[in-house]
Amino acid sequence: MMLFLILAFTFLSAGLSAPLTSDCDTLTQQVEIPSRDPLLGVWTFALESTDIPGSKLLLKMFVENVWGKVFPANESDSIFVFQVQKILGRCFSITSKLTLVNNTLHTEHPLSASEVLLRTSCSDCILLLSNTTLGESTYRTMQLLTRRPKLTSAEIDEFKRQAACLNLPPPAILTANKGFCPDSSASKDTETTDLTSVLSQANPEYMKILDKLLSSQSGIKMIVDSMRNQK
Ligand SMILES: *[C@@H]1O[C@H](CO)[C@@H](O)[C@H](O)[C@H]1NC(C)=O
Ligand SMILES: *[C@@H]1O[C@H](CO)[C@@H](O)[C@H](O)[C@H]1NC(C)=O
Ligand SMILES: *[C@@H]1O[C@H](CO)[C@@H](O)[C@H](O)[C@H]1NC(C)=O
Repeated sequence: MMLFLILAFTFLSAGLSAPLTSDCDTLTQQVEIPSRDPLLGVWTFALESTDIPGSKLLLKMFVENVWGKVFPANESDSIFVFQVQKILGRCFSITSKLTLVNNTLHTEHPLSASEVLLRTSCSDCILLLSNTTLGESTYRTMQLLTRRPKLTSAEIDEFKRQAACLNLPPPAILTANKGFCPDSSASKDTETTDLTSVLSQANPEYMKILDKLLSSQSGIKMIVDSMRNQK
């Protein structure tokens, strides 16, 4: 009887949580973006899988957390994404404008990218899959943005399976344990450094060099060493 109760309990609790499926077609289903409205508001960047070489290492070593605010642009099909990263205790922001066309978000600055939404069983989240051009390479990145302070382990597991289905590496898990940077989107006079124009105006040659650096172990080591010297 005891065993039966335990089995029944396990069965019920499994049934109550998000449906688990290991079918890659279902796990990587694209969802429509009927309007910009579901994207608006404040988000925490919780998980990221990317094939940009060195990205996970650099994220783990230097980035404490990332949050973002999505707000409407004048055109009804466009949004601004204001994103703030805490790097070595300092705050850096980037604002990009994205335009929604045919269920795909497009941006040209600071980097050229296109993004679609994928299905997720986390109801307070959006799951983005993007192509980003850096120098002469195009990289894929999958990011889970959430409105909640913490994800469940089932949600993290689902993301890992989705990344595996797409042949993306295991995710970097971002936590918020060190306090987020303030919202400097309205006022410019804070300790936050805005990198938007620096990146948008960067010489294309610089992006090619960055791409080359990231593509080699010695290049990544050079980036790590120069970041360490910033401490
Ligand atoms: C948005 O529209 C308002 C009112 O028409 C205008 O004053 C403002 O400059 C526009 N902003 C941008 C970024 O185009
Ligand atoms: C959007 O999709 C429709 C139907 O698939 C297509 O006819 C149209 O050309 C697309 N628009 C753009 C801007 O890609
Ligand atoms: C990314 O690029 C690939 C290959 O060109 C394409 O099949 C895919 O639809 C693109 N994804 C996005 C989100 O633009």
